[in-house]
Amino acid sequence: MSEKIKIFIADDIAATRESICKLLEFDPDMIVVGQAGSGEEALEKVKELQPDVILMDINMPGMDGITATEQIVAQVPTVCIIIMSVQSEQEYLRQAMVAGAKNYLVKPFSSDELLQAVKQGFINEKKRRNVLKFEPKPTQGKIITVFSTKGGIGKTTISTNLAVALAEKTSTNVGIVDADLQFGDVALFLNLVPRATVADLVRDIDSLDGQVLQKYLTRFGDKVALLPAPVRPEQAETVTGGHLAAILKTMRANFKFTIIDTAPTFSESMLAVLDASDIILVVAALDLPTIKNVKLCLEIMESLNYGKDKVKVVLNRADTTSDIDIAEVEASLQYKFSASIPSDGKVVVTSVNKGVPFVVSHPGTPVSRSIFDLAGLVTDCDWQAQTEPQTVNGVVGRLKKLFS
Ligand SMILES: Nc1ncnc2c1ncn2[C@@H]1O[C@H](COP(=O)(O)OP(=O)(O)OP(=O)(O)O)[C@@H](O)[C@H]1O
Ligand SMILES: [Mg+2]
Repeated sequence: MSEKIKIFIADDIAATRESICKLLEFDPDMIVVGQAGSGEEALEKVKELQPDVILMDINMPGMDGITATEQIVAQVPTVCIIIMSVQSEQEYLRQAMVAGAKNYLVKPFSSDELLQAVKQGFINEKKRRNVLKFEPKPTQGKIITVFSTKGGIGKTTISTNLAVALAEKTSTNVGIVDADLQFGDVALFLNLVPRATVADLVRDIDSLDGQVLQKYLTRFGDKVALLPAPVRPEQAETVTGGHLAAILKTMRANFKFTIIDTAPTFSESMLAVLDASDIILVVAALDLPTIKNVKLCLEIMESLNYGKDKVKVVLNRADTTSDIDIAEVEASLQYKFSASIPSDGKVVVTSVNKGVPFVVSHPGTPVSRSIFDLAGLVTDCDWQAQTEPQTVNGVVGRLKKLFS
């Protein structure tokens, strides 16, 4: 068999999952891509991992295996689900089949019974796909980039908190890519020790798919997955705009939302990111140098043909005592602020120092509520109106033209 059968195990007893893993390990054609201890967890992970076969226990606390089967079949119709249960009664069998399961194993089962059921289920599913000419449609997630040509304006603060808020608000997995390739500090903001970085991933770029991507992500909680920036600034050179475009394509296929933190520059790699984005949140503040800078940034974006459906301006530290009038700034930028994040030195700095996003540590504060509002703006966006993200071809040429 040329491709390995990707198997997912859902059972509330960890020891059972482990012993099934061990049985499957003996077969070189099979690989266990994930596990879950509940129906809810299975539903969430399966959407992301897209296994070929799921071994699903019936009796689990919370969402049981039959309900989980029903919901998974509705969302991932190409998967073959095999129910496992100590109950061998006809009624259970019937319920499992009605829910969409393809087979039923009565515990305890032998290694042969298990391997046979998995192989048969996989082969049948493949035949069915060929007959129906059914190609699983990859998730078309959205890429939201937090950008500004001004450094220290709050990009990382906003991107980290937005990713966590979006995951909580939508109950989906959210990806975050630290594209500040030289000095990225998203891992620090989330108090994570990266197990790998984007510089490691580019070595595997030719075989990049959802499964390979997972190896390079570091998890924050159970819903946010980070692709960290390189550990050392000199490694940034190994990551090109083309690499980032390929990585974002894979992120898009695996996460409903991916947030990108960026470096404050229009470099080749940042342009690749901006081109691939559905929404660019340009971060502004109420001081003259920043406003001048943001105005220039917006003009460049207009020259790149990014419309107002794609570019949104977010005002950070909105309530900082300033004699600058917001309406005048909006008129000068020819953009309305789509969101305002208040200043809260105490909450924001404490949160960074502790490595806990303030939307988690201080969810009720005005600064957190403003991030949840921003998450709402992202989810309520009229995606239908969006044009297809542009490709990165000729980006350097376009950039040169801009500054010539
Ligand atoms: N709304 C806010 N209220 C108070 N402090 C803030 C706020 N937003 C950002 N800060 C603080 O401003 C500093 C810079 O923020 P951050 O690192 O997010 O900016 P950045 O744009 O990512 O910077 P860089 O360009 O260096 O990557 C941090 O110390 C952060 O705590
Ligand atoms: Mg930053």
